[in-house]
Amino acid sequence: MSPESKVSSPSGAVASLSEREQFSAELERFEMKPLWLIYRDVLTKQPRAREVPFLWSWNVVRPLLLRAGGLITAAEAERRVLMFLNPGNPAQIGATATLYAAAQLILPGETARAHRHSPAALRFVIEGEGAYTCVEGEKIFMKPGDLVLTPAMVWHDHGNDGNEPVMWLDGLDIPLTAALNCMFLDEFPSLSQTESAPRERSEKLYGRALFPSETLAPAAKPYSPVWAYRWAEAREALACLAQGSAPDRFDGTILRYVNPANGGEVLPSMGCRLQLLRKGERMAAHRHTTSAVYHVAEGSGHSILDGIRFDWRKGDTFAVPIWLWHEHAAPTEDAVLFSVTDEPVLAPLGLLRSEPYPENGGFQAVRSVFQGSR
Ligand SMILES: [Fe+2]
Ligand SMILES: [Fe+2]
Repeated sequence: MSPESKVSSPSGAVASLSEREQFSAELERFEMKPLWLIYRDVLTKQPRAREVPFLWSWNVVRPLLLRAGGLITAAEAERRVLMFLNPGNPAQIGATATLYAAAQLILPGETARAHRHSPAALRFVIEGEGAYTCVEGEKIFMKPGDLVLTPAMVWHDHGNDGNEPVMWLDGLDIPLTAALNCMFLDEFPSLSQTESAPRERSEKLYGRALFPSETLAPAAKPYSPVWAYRWAEAREALACLAQGSAPDRFDGTILRYVNPANGGEVLPSMGCRLQLLRKGERMAAHRHTTSAVYHVAEGSGHSILDGIRFDWRKGDTFAVPIWLWHEHAAPTEDAVLFSVTDEPVLAPLGLLRSEPYPENGGFQAVRSVFQGSR
């Protein structure tokens, strides 16, 4: 008798447990498994994130990063980086299931070797001036609040020609690239690239609504042709939007950094946002299928993440995993949050979904206050 006839009786009578176990064991030999054993675990009614909300305080990160500066050189380390790992899923390199975040330090006179890799990267400068990122031969000097992009497989190196330590937040799509098993890394033949393009070329050429005429335009790439988005300009735009526009119920006054060639996201795997919470504003709670890493660019306030209040101030970074209730507030002063989202990945897959918090007028009750570390 075939194993099939034992388990599919039309009368509804089923085989004994031991017969089923024996059947499953038999399947294993042929690299098969009955779906019914794990059906409810796979097709969950809602996302079940292993990741939890967490905050990395700049008060904690900054001294540790500077200590790392005394322990290892940028040359030895390749990149002197402290990764932000999610305590709900520490085996994975990431702050959320799709987004990696970390703090990087480069000291005066140091160079971080030129390379390129398949994960896309961005950096948001936290502190210090005089450091640069050289992207495809174009040297970009960075100031606090500047966003600098290095898309997938684009050559880049860093250096610090100034006289103070420079620290920034790194954002990469490493968990996603790793899940796709599509990791590539090439090292540049020399330590750093030679400066082969005019400084800030990408901003001057593509960032000012003046593009090369069609015959001269390079082929469209799936990422922004502008490598750097400057803090002064982004902050000014945000202030401008805040004048006379009603804030979004969940996000306050919010801008997206866009690819000026098509109005889309700056990178195919990561979108960037800048949002203003005006003093006294308390936004409503919602949840969505995108996950995000937030960085406090200015001011202070708090977010309630799944009933836990996370107090934050300038320099702090926090993770909001998928499908987690969250709301933001700035009770005592204006606050600006920079964030990285995986929305560009979910949108074309038809997986964008969100819902407002249904109870208590749209606001969560605070069950506890985040204490900082484990
Ligand atoms: Fe890199
Ligand atoms: Fe949100």
